[in-house]
Amino acid sequence: MNSPLVSDATLDVLFRKARSFNGFTSQPVTDEELRKLYELAKWGPTTANSQPQRVVFVRSAEAKEKLAPALSAQNTKKALGAPVVAILAYDMRFFEHLPRLFHNPNARSWYETTPEQIRTTALRNATLQGAYLMVAARAIGLDCGPMSGFKNDVVDAAFFPDGRFKSNFLCCLGHGDPSTLPPQDYRFAFDEACQIV
Ligand SMILES: Cc1cc2nc3c(=O)[nH]c(=O)nc-3n(C[C@H](O)[C@H](O)[C@H](O)COP(=O)(O)O)c2cc1C
Repeated sequence: MNSPLVSDATLDVLFRKARSFNGFTSQPVTDEELRKLYELAKWGPTTANSQPQRVVFVRSAEAKEKLAPALSAQNTKKALGAPVVAILAYDMRFFEHLPRLFHNPNARSWYETTPEQIRTTALRNATLQGAYLMVAARAIGLDCGPMSGFKNDVVDAAFFPDGRFKSNFLCCLGHGDPSTLPPQDYRFAFDEACQIV
């Protein structure tokens, strides 16, 4: 077998020992860290380089107050206790940017279709970008707590009132407090989840 291009220790940080955190230390997350995070995550691939994800980093008390009514009872304390909660959203008019983003000038016409198809492409790619963002966060020393337990329509009304952007999921960011972690749950073994045909 080929040896990995990155070290075993790096693979632990990015995947094997990385956890989803519900409790964070009080160490803040700086603007510089958030910029570094985006600048790394943005390189992940998306359909026709469409990059439909839009992110709102909720950090101020005022913005957290706006987010609070959307959170499920189980998630309220966890999210509001995180230094930053990223609202990971997608742009329902992502195709407007394709002439600037993709080398084939016809790309816009491929994706400016029905609202249902637009949503499928936007959601698929923004979700991938959400995963890139989480791995990038780990790579720069931040921990994540992804969350789908919230009311999307309440977030959308509060943060995206013109209807163009739609929330996908939330991702708490900060420096995780390991004392709050439950034991790591089982992951399927190769033969349970994969086939080679
Ligand atoms: C899209 C997504 C939504 C999630 N929603 C919630 C949530 O609403 N509340 C919560 O406490 N954890 C949530 N989680 C965290 C998962 O339960 C956690 O990632 C999973 O159990 C694996 O845990 P581990 O990374 O610590 O091994 C979510 C994770 C993802 C990726």
